[in-house]
Amino acid sequence: MSRPVRLAINGASGRMGQALLGLLKEDPAFRLDYAVVAPGSESDGASVFPGPSDALRYAHDWSQAPALDVVVDFSGPEALAAALDYCLANGTALVTGTTGIDSALEARLEGACEHIAVLRAANFSLGVTMLTRLLREAAAAFPAWDLEIVEAHHGHKQDAPSGTALALGHAAAAARNIDLATAAVYSREGRPGERVDGSIGFAVVRGGDIVGEHHALLIGKGERIELSHRATDRSVFARGALQAAQWLHGRSAGSWQLDDVL
Ligand SMILES: NC(=O)c1ccc[n+]([C@@H]2O[C@H](COP(=O)([O-])OP(=O)(O)OC[C@H]3O[C@@H](n4cnc5c(N)ncnc54)[C@H](OP(=O)(O)O)[C@@H]3O)[C@@H](O)[C@H]2O)c1
Repeated sequence: MSRPVRLAINGASGRMGQALLGLLKEDPAFRLDYAVVAPGSESDGASVFPGPSDALRYAHDWSQAPALDVVVDFSGPEALAAALDYCLANGTALVTGTTGIDSALEARLEGACEHIAVLRAANFSLGVTMLTRLLREAAAAFPAWDLEIVEAHHGHKQDAPSGTALALGHAAAAARNIDLATAAVYSREGRPGERVDGSIGFAVVRGGDIVGEHHALLIGKGERIELSHRATDRSVFARGALQAAQWLHGRSAGSWQLDDVL
């Protein structure tokens, strides 16, 4: 049997970090060897798995990091940059879901792919990855069918449409060789007139505790295809990131996608 993947979590005290720790407690495929939080974090120095037998403590930098196979990062741009330094210096693979990074860090990540294996995703749900793949195929096969993307989330969500709905729109547009910026219709009210051929419509539902739903409707004459994904638990992103980490372990340098994991 192969040995467990030696892992570090960057952003270990955060929402995603804690979801990852919850899964790692029960998964013999991984050994958590390092856990990084922000300098000044109230978690800094505390036990990661409180109890008599576990001595692993949260660290606030990479100076004491042991040899690792994969770093899993859900943190912030500054923390990601520091993790990237560690990975490049040690030839360690990197799985990252951190968003909101600037063009300089984007460029650094791209350059890093020449030296280490990097897997990035804006949405770590494997189900959404498959939905995207299916939509790409259907949108290309039926270029004349009307396409509408409907998403639903809890009432606290600030942005609309969701980043995932937009990513689905981009994937479908690319499959049809059109530009989403010109094809997208984000709202309809009053008398917007007839549907424009080739457009991609978006509709948004908000309410209650919906974790996330995405539906792509391909509507033809007398028939339609409905592709749907429903997330019922936020740990789906943590689970996808760990599957990605296991898959990435031992891969050659390069820019890998969640689609490759499938
Ligand atoms: N791709 C996906 O599927 C996906 C899903 C969910 C979230 N995300 C993204 O993942 C990132 C984290 O999300 P979250 O909800 O877990 O955020 P969060 O709850 O705010 O957690 C952020 C974590 O990063 C740590 N951190 C912040 N600055 C740091 C620094 N300079 N050095 C080291 N550690 C630092 C924080 O430490 P302390 O809190 O202890 O200070 C905390 O552990 C965001 O960019 C979010 O958009 C992506």
